[in-house]
Amino acid sequence: MAEEKKNTPAEREAGPSAEFDRRAFFVKLGLGSLGIAAAGTAAFSYQFLSPNVLYEPSPIVNAGKPESYAVDSVTLDVNSGIYLVRTEKGFFALSAVCTHLGCLTAWKPELGEHGIIACPCHGSKFYVRDPGHIPGEKIEGPAPRPLPWLEVSLSDDGDLLVDRSKQIEPMKEFLRV
Ligand code: FES
Repeated sequence: MAEEKKNTPAEREAGPSAEFDRRAFFVKLGLGSLGIAAAGTAAFSYQFLSPNVLYEPSPIVNAGKPESYAVDSVTLDVNSGIYLVRTEKGFFALSAVCTHLGCLTAWKPELGEHGIIACPCHGSKFYVRDPGHIPGEKIEGPAPRPLPWLEVSLSDDGDLLVDRSKQIEPMKEFLRV
């Protein structure tokens, strides 16, 4: 014969309302768990369905007004990794990223007769203003290629724009302003 379930004295004292409260508590607990599971599934689905796109900064650098650069000057923009050079012929831009392993080079006006660009990592050196040498041409060091020339243009507002995604042939284009 099956034994009848005996409640504890406290439960007997609390009566049927305690049984109801316990049931309601477990129903709420179950609903809460389902809610958490549904939220997790929704979050995962959103992440899965969202396009996995990397937003890169624009390759075009606004270098400001031409008059802020002196003739015969070399200006390094550390943030964008470019040199803007102003000569008697006009403006041109070089990438400041070393073609060896990608270190940022530095302008050293005190070195050589006309100043040089030097890489701090493994000692590559490049011409910038030496007559008879193409700016960006390697002087020495492990860099396999010269520093690339980059396209320079003027915006509608008269600002200098350097496009880091467009390499041009050295000595072919000087921007005159
Ligand atoms: S990264 Fe410039 S010489 Fe190696």
